[in-house]
Amino acid sequence: MKGEMKGLILSGGLGTRLRPITHTSAKQLVPVANKPILFYGLEAMRDAGIKRVGIVVGETAPEVKAAVGDGGAWGLEVTYIHQPEPLGLAHAVLVAEEYLGGEEFVMYLGDNILKEGIGGLVRAYQEERPNALILLTRVKEPERFGVAELRDGKVVRLVEKPKDPPSDLALVGVYVFDRHIFEAARAIKPSWRGELEITDAIQRLIDDGYEVRPKLVKGWWKDTGRPEDLLEANRLLLEELEPENRGEVVDSEVVGRVVLQEGARVVRSTVRGPAIIGEGTLVEDSYIGPFTSIYYGCEILESEIEHSIVLENSRIRGIRRIEDSLIGKEVEVSPSQEKPRAFRLMLGDHSKVKVI
Ligand code: TTP
Repeated sequence: MKGEMKGLILSGGLGTRLRPITHTSAKQLVPVANKPILFYGLEAMRDAGIKRVGIVVGETAPEVKAAVGDGGAWGLEVTYIHQPEPLGLAHAVLVAEEYLGGEEFVMYLGDNILKEGIGGLVRAYQEERPNALILLTRVKEPERFGVAELRDGKVVRLVEKPKDPPSDLALVGVYVFDRHIFEAARAIKPSWRGELEITDAIQRLIDDGYEVRPKLVKGWWKDTGRPEDLLEANRLLLEELEPENRGEVVDSEVVGRVVLQEGARVVRSTVRGPAIIGEGTLVEDSYIGPFTSIYYGCEILESEIEHSIVLENSRIRGIRRIEDSLIGKEVEVSPSQEKPRAFRLMLGDHSKVKVI
């Protein structure tokens, strides 16, 4: 097995930008188009021919382990690497040093989804053999990203959220490194936010004379760190959905790209795709609009919902219209029957509710 590239998927972190969902769950396990985000990374590894994958986990380790197991479902050999505290992406690399054992590896941020996968990146690395190969994509607002400056086909500088961007090429959360990244990660100091930044470690490689090369992403790439990004990733994935009916449709209209998963039931309703309805979910007297993913075990009754993600076992009843929403697990939303008529809420910390 020596010489074969290993994979490293980062699935620790705090996920503060996705609270309250991440108060109780790992952000990498939020389903997008009814599949946990992390699974897209595992599939990308498998499709690139990688067999051994280390997953860096933090406090949500039990949940990640329960979902991924030994990786056999993807034909992968998964090893879990515990990061005691989320001290940054370069810190995660150091925590994984022993597992990686000096071999080249492809590192993938567990909350990222890349349409084209990572096969091209891995092949380019094997042909060019630089010390690091970083994926870049053109973005509209480079000020929001880590940005690369290129010269003669090499990366000469990386800047985090630049006021005056040297290019529109942002760093995508996938990289290939050789063993020199460990020295670089050890040499840097924590940033203002107290993290060992991977951009600082890569800059260190460049400053020490190592070769860092760029590779441009062709298809779309999405970092799902914020709720609006999750909804967009959901939209992009649903657009490619192959329609399939493994459920039951009764007195309903189902149009466009719609997937009904095993045992889903649509009764006296309209489902306008692209949309996916999860296993055992019931949609009754309702409207499900485009770009909506309802996960398993849910009930959507007498309600309208569009451009939203609903997690497992939630119940929505009698709600006129929900849009652009991310609804957690086992959530209940229904009209208040009691008098006086009022909103009656039980919301977790950091919940965000917009009412009309
Ligand atoms: P980020 O989105 O940069 O960090 P975060 O998960 O702490 O999120 P937030 O900013 O909302 O609090 O992390 C990118 C990926 O790397 C994500 O899948 C989590 C993972 N990660 C680790 O595994 N260890 C770490 O120390 C950090 C910072 C992130």
